Amino acid sequence: MGGLNAPILSGAALAERFSALDAFLCAQQSIWREKPFTRQQLNWETDYPELAAWLRTRSLADAEACHNSAHTLTAPQPFMDWAQQAEQLCSLGAFHATDLAERPLRMQSGIAQRKWQQIAAFAGAVQGSAQQLLRQPQHWLDWCAGKGHLGRYLAWPDAQLESLEFDAQLISSAQAISEKYLPQAQHTLCDVMSPASVAPLLRSDTVVALHACGDLHTHLLRQVSAQPTAALALAPCCYNRTQAECYQPLSNAGRASQLQLDRDDLSLPLTATVTATTRERRLRDQSMAWRLAFDILQRRLRGLDEYLPTPSLSATWFNKSFAQWCQDVAALKELPQVPEQDWAQLEAQGWQRLAQVRNLELVRGLFRRPLELWLVLDQALFLQEQGFIVELGEFCAAELTPRNLLLLAQRG
Ligand SMILES: C[S@@+](CC[C@H](N)C(=O)[O-])C[C@H]1O[C@@H](n2cnc3c(N)ncnc32)[C@H](O)[C@@H]1O
Repeated sequence: MGGLNAPILSGAALAERFSALDAFLCAQQSIWREKPFTRQQLNWETDYPELAAWLRTRSLADAEACHNSAHTLTAPQPFMDWAQQAEQLCSLGAFHATDLAERPLRMQSGIAQRKWQQIAAFAGAVQGSAQQLLRQPQHWLDWCAGKGHLGRYLAWPDAQLESLEFDAQLISSAQAISEKYLPQAQHTLCDVMSPASVAPLLRSDTVVALHACGDLHTHLLRQVSAQPTAALALAPCCYNRTQAECYQPLSNAGRASQLQLDRDDLSLPLTATVTATTRERRLRDQSMAWRLAFDILQRRLRGLDEYLPTPSLSATWFNKSFAQWCQDVAALKELPQVPEQDWAQLEAQGWQRLAQVRNLELVRGLFRRPLELWLVLDQALFLQEQGFIVELGEFCAAELTPRNLLLLAQRG
């Protein structure tokens, strides 16, 4: 949603935007909280029958075609009003990308092109922020670093780098790569959630985290504010990976909000699928259509009009016939023996429901980015309350990664 004239948020604009998003999300809770996958009929469909009927007649391909651009759909009201409000509330500028010195070409080897582009964009944005928040760091700390590509990119050729990662194999790969390009780098095997992450924080002046999930990034924010860390660049990810059942707001404004978010709600921002391959999409569609067909079957078998969750199943499960798959899932859920069925008809009903679900989900999809921005603004406001100067913007196009929000903070 980053536009040419959209602003990078900083100062009072952070609280203003949070408050507007909060009002929007609270007012429309009954619309975005209901999940079409688990409910055969949604409550809001009675309030907006024209919109519901219109969505229910569209095909799976129709839904797929506008999955990431639902705001452009000419659907019956109030769809277009919601879409317009969401679009306005999420308008956010992109950080100016500084051209950094070319990194040696061989540094890219073994890194997926998309990942490399994300890293280059993150690094360009970090060093190109309008207020130059993160000026000339001497000692970078890469938090949840994987193989340490981001930190290595930033520290190259002569700054200090420490990267923290709790997977020993990734650490040894990281070490091997750094020996070639950044021998001074230190890769530390460390659970960032443990007290062992404090000493590295004290040693560094600037912490970066690209796609650190849930608790890993909220813990970082708390640590950065508790320690004398000078600056932070964070692109959060997987907001739903939390120990706590419900989101624990960080900022005063977040705590004052009426919004209570559970893990299911926190997974809404992650439902965009720009990076899935065709094969992954096909398998995901089949899995969902079969589960929706099974949902029709299990309601009949149990004589109970209620959704029954099914466990996640490996891809090999979908090599079975549909009939066998249903029987095996029923056994897994300890349901009575499944009587002979018109399996072809049941499977077709599953696919039909999938088309309806995907189209109804376009409504929820309108609230995906507003909710994500609400969460990241809560983090931005927390840092501001702790005395940091904060900027929030996009570091790359959503096609490169939908998790493209970047929070830059410098101790004031
Ligand atoms: C989504 S990946 C991001 C990796 C890297 N920043 C990147 O963008 O390529 C998250 C990383 O966090 C690491 N991780 C997960 N939990 C951790 C923990 N408690 N302490 C340290 N690292 C952790 C994982 O092993 C993984 O490498």
